[in-house]
Amino acid sequence: MSVAIITGSAGLIGSEATKFFAAEGFDVVGVDNDMRARFFGAEASTQWNRQRLQAQLGDRYKHEEIDIRDEDAVASLFERYQNDIALVLHTAAQPSHDWAARDPKTDFGVNANGTLNLLEATRQHAPEAVFIFTSTNKVYGDAPNRLPLVEQTTRWEINASHEYVDGIPEDFSIDQSMHSLFGASKVAADVLVQEYGRYFDMRTACFRGGCLTGPSHSGTQLHGFLAYLMKCTVTGTPYTVFGYNGKQVRDNIHSADLISAFYAFFQNPKSAAVYNIGGGRYSNCSMIEAIGLCEQITGRPMDWSYSESNRAGDHIWWISSLARFRADYPDWKLKYDVPEILQEIYDANVERWVEATVV
Ligand SMILES: NC(=O)c1ccc[n+]([C@@H]2O[C@H](COP(=O)([O-])OP(=O)(O)OC[C@H]3O[C@@H](n4cnc5c(N)ncnc54)[C@H](O)[C@@H]3O)[C@@H](O)[C@H]2O)c1
Repeated sequence: MSVAIITGSAGLIGSEATKFFAAEGFDVVGVDNDMRARFFGAEASTQWNRQRLQAQLGDRYKHEEIDIRDEDAVASLFERYQNDIALVLHTAAQPSHDWAARDPKTDFGVNANGTLNLLEATRQHAPEAVFIFTSTNKVYGDAPNRLPLVEQTTRWEINASHEYVDGIPEDFSIDQSMHSLFGASKVAADVLVQEYGRYFDMRTACFRGGCLTGPSHSGTQLHGFLAYLMKCTVTGTPYTVFGYNGKQVRDNIHSADLISAFYAFFQNPKSAAVYNIGGGRYSNCSMIEAIGLCEQITGRPMDWSYSESNRAGDHIWWISSLARFRADYPDWKLKYDVPEILQEIYDANVERWVEATVV
């Protein structure tokens, strides 16, 4: 038996990974307590996705309603499967930097202590398992805002002659910048994951994501930008763009492309690996470019307004350098760009969103 323990299994990345690894023949044990609904309200609940997984995957999927902060529950789950555990994919999190400031202790408890519980349970019961952690580009804080950026018609861009023109690499400083409390709790987790790799010689990886996206995102105002933008356009919900003239740039990676990167790592793992991962130069957009695309796809104008003040610690321009990951895994390729991602989000959700508006 090959078991994959996937935390946050009803969330965007966790649910797509659950389907992927079940199809690869793993017995997937999913850990998710729907805390996303506690963070962001009922509209962001991932319960619908959990039910869908249970219906689609049957015996291949076992759901555990465990809170990753519960050390004893996590330990006894790992004790049950021991060395059958081939993979731990840790995606459960408090994922929003704005939300973290409302309740820093809960944020740190979930993101940092929860990660420590999982690392320790892996070390005690399944030390040979591959441990993959979904970190974030927020570990670099707002230091990218100090790069030489140029305002163009629809976006901010890095000076064309700068060494980071193809994206920001992993050796960029994570120190002495504004991270948001979310960024700080993720840094703690990221460094712990590296340390368990280095110190205990475990096979761990931190994937520092740009914007992760896809049709299964339960998009909400504080998290899940492309999915929420599309939802607002479809349902006529007003949307506010915060700061930077709406020209802030994000790179966006489809969940399928991210999971194929996880799989490449799983098949040929390393110790204490750190990778920036995102859409890179291939898949990125500014806010106003994304709004234009949503309007084009839905055929309706979006009701959006602009607020001068940017979110604290928000990036003006972020594009991930994919060079390190590509050097280690040369067969991996991105398949989706932003227009394709938005079209798929639209196709997969339009009926559900319209129905919910009518009711
Ligand atoms: N989505 C992005 O743009 C993005 C960008 C960079 C990094 N990340 C990271 O990637 C990971 C996955 O992101 P996502 O977009 O799939 O998030 P998501 O919110 O869709 O999924 C996370 C899941 O974890 C569950 N969860 C939260 N706290 C829990 C707890 N204490 N115990 C058990 N389950 C819990 C939630 O209910 C949710 O279903 C997160 O670690 C996030 O920080 C996301």
